[in-house]
Amino acid sequence: MMTASMTSTATAPDAATKTKGLLELRQVRKSYGGFVAVDQLDLTVQPGEFVTLLGPSGSGKTTTMMMVAGFEEHTSGSVMIDGQPVDTLPPRERNLGVVFQNYALFPHMTALENVEFALRMRKVPASERRQRANEALKRVGLGTLGDRKPRQLSGGQQQRVALARALVFNPAALLLDEPMAALDKRLREQMQEEIKTLQKSLGISVLFVTHDQEEAMAMSDRIVVMKDGRIVQSGPPDEVYNHPLTDWVAGFLGDTNLIPCTVLERNGKEATVDLGGLGIARVRDQGAMGADYAVSIRPEHLKLSSTPPVDGGCGAVITSSTNLGATVRHRLTAGGHELMLREMSPESGTRSATDSLWVGWDPDKAQLLVLES
Ligand SMILES: Nc1ncnc2c1ncn2[C@@H]1O[C@H](COP(=O)(O)OP(=O)(O)OP(=O)(O)O)[C@@H](O)[C@H]1O
Ligand SMILES: [Mg+2]
Repeated sequence: MMTASMTSTATAPDAATKTKGLLELRQVRKSYGGFVAVDQLDLTVQPGEFVTLLGPSGSGKTTTMMMVAGFEEHTSGSVMIDGQPVDTLPPRERNLGVVFQNYALFPHMTALENVEFALRMRKVPASERRQRANEALKRVGLGTLGDRKPRQLSGGQQQRVALARALVFNPAALLLDEPMAALDKRLREQMQEEIKTLQKSLGISVLFVTHDQEEAMAMSDRIVVMKDGRIVQSGPPDEVYNHPLTDWVAGFLGDTNLIPCTVLERNGKEATVDLGGLGIARVRDQGAMGADYAVSIRPEHLKLSSTPPVDGGCGAVITSSTNLGATVRHRLTAGGHELMLREMSPESGTRSATDSLWVGWDPDKAQLLVLES
């Protein structure tokens, strides 16, 4: 007894700091009658990590967030926060800051009162509330606007109040479900940077939802791609973008060239493939197995040159060019394939359709994947 209690007092504070913000979902499933909205979901957010659920409409992102927050009950599996099961805990006792797109501010309360409300709900003594709410508003850059009602604030300012309200009680983690969906592009980008800076300075874990792939790329330590209630790929943004496992993931994350291929040899890391008219090539291989394969190369990873590239490559003819401002998009035919290539405008300025050109790529940026659609 003596030893046990001594050990627990000695290690408790340490263990608590180590797991603060740790979110774990184990084999979580949610069905509505016969319809399965989320299935076999295994997901961990490490303390301080910024993880984004990215997927098309209806893929189960909000449902997943609601189950972590405790607003939806899962059908099976378990949810843990800070290393403890929370399956039976009501939302307020899960110590999570939540900003949902439709989780509006109270219109009759000022910004400051809205933030204080989160503390009132958690039974924080009245004497502390005002000061803590003011500090939270200051943290999101609204220190001087606490007296305004939501309708006297811009969309971006309202989102910041919601963020202050989610942060004010020092939560274990933040759950942000498309918090910037209603904002215009410019404000959205500004808020992305602000949220990222705030997250880093507080060292808080974030589970974020978006269906905007650029937003996911810009914000995340890790992207979890969801489709039909399941995780189809998870990894750092670069990895998911450059090394998609399937044509669906590749297409969802942006434009790509998919070149059907025959696999000649593979060793788990690299494969040798026959790309038809584009020749035999070595490409990256993540070991995904399926019936049909293709190689994915992003338009910005194809390179044009006026002499044959060292690593193979193929003669190419530009069929059309579109100036997109900073970049130019070319459509090409090469080895019987139609390809899309993107390059910076200055490099492109000197190209003409009559040039004799070659197209090539860095083998590390060519990814073998499974064709599923
Ligand atoms: N209460 C409910 N009853 C029945 N089906 C539901 C319910 N809530 C959600 N669903 C279904 O579960 C699926 C997942 O919904 P969810 O809201 O999680 O999607 P999402 O990925 O957040 O989509 P979006 O990007 O549009 O917000 C959808 O097909 C949806 O229709
Ligand atoms: Mg949603």
